[in-house]
Amino acid sequence: MRNLVSVSLLASDFSNLSDEIKRAEGAGVDWIHYDVMDGLFVRNISFGEPVLKSISKSISIPIDVHLMITDPIRYVENYAMLGAAGITIHYESTPDVQSVINKIRSLGCKVGLAVKPTTPISYIKSYISQIDMILVMTVEPGFGGQVFLSETLDKISEARELISSSNRDIRLQVDGGINAQTGELVRSHGADVLVSGSYLFSAEDMNKAVEILRG
Ligand code: DX5
Ligand code: ZN
Repeated sequence: MRNLVSVSLLASDFSNLSDEIKRAEGAGVDWIHYDVMDGLFVRNISFGEPVLKSISKSISIPIDVHLMITDPIRYVENYAMLGAAGITIHYESTPDVQSVINKIRSLGCKVGLAVKPTTPISYIKSYISQIDMILVMTVEPGFGGQVFLSETLDKISEARELISSSNRDIRLQVDGGINAQTGELVRSHGADVLVSGSYLFSAEDMNKAVEILRG
C-alpha cells in the first residue's frame, strides 16, 4: 500500500481556511486531518462542527476526523453527516469502545482507534478485526507543534506486527511532531499514514515536503 500524507489543519491560517485547504490539496496531500478537541479529554479547544460545515465544500479529498473528546459516541453521527470519510476515536476517551466502533461502522465511515503515547498497543488488540486504522500518537494529544516522542517507535513496530498478523487491510497512522527526519523513522517502523501540521504549513515548498513525507 502506498504511504499517505494527512495534513492537519490545526497549523493552518484560520483566517484563510479555504485557501489553505486548496494549497494543501494542490501540494498533493492525500487526506485532510481535522482535529477536534473539547477542553476535557485534552486541555485545548480547537474547532468543531460549524467550522467543518463551512469548509467541507472546499475539500475534495477524504476528511480524516480525529476526535480528541470525551464520550465521542455523542458526536460521531454529526461528523459522518458532515462528510467524514473516517472517524478516529481515542481508546482512552470512552468506557465503551465497542459501541462507538459499531456506531461509526453503521454510519458507513472508516473506523480509526487511537492510543496516547503511554497506552500499550495490547489494550486495543481485541478490536483489530473491526477497525480500519490504528493511530499511534507520537506526542501527547492536545497541541500542534510539539516534539516527536522517540519512545513511541517501539509501539509503532508493535502495531505493525499486530496489523500483519491480522491479515486485514489496516492503515497505521502516526500523529505529532512529524517532519522529514521523524517521517523517515516512523516509516521504517511501519507507519503508512503520516499526519503533519507544522512541518507542512511552514514548508517553503509544500509539494516537496509532501513527497518527502510520503517517502
Ligand atoms: C495533536 C494533533 C495533531 C497535530 C499535529 O494533538 O492531533 O494532529 O495537529 O501537529 P504537528 O504536525 O504540528 O505536530
Ligand atoms: Zn490529530
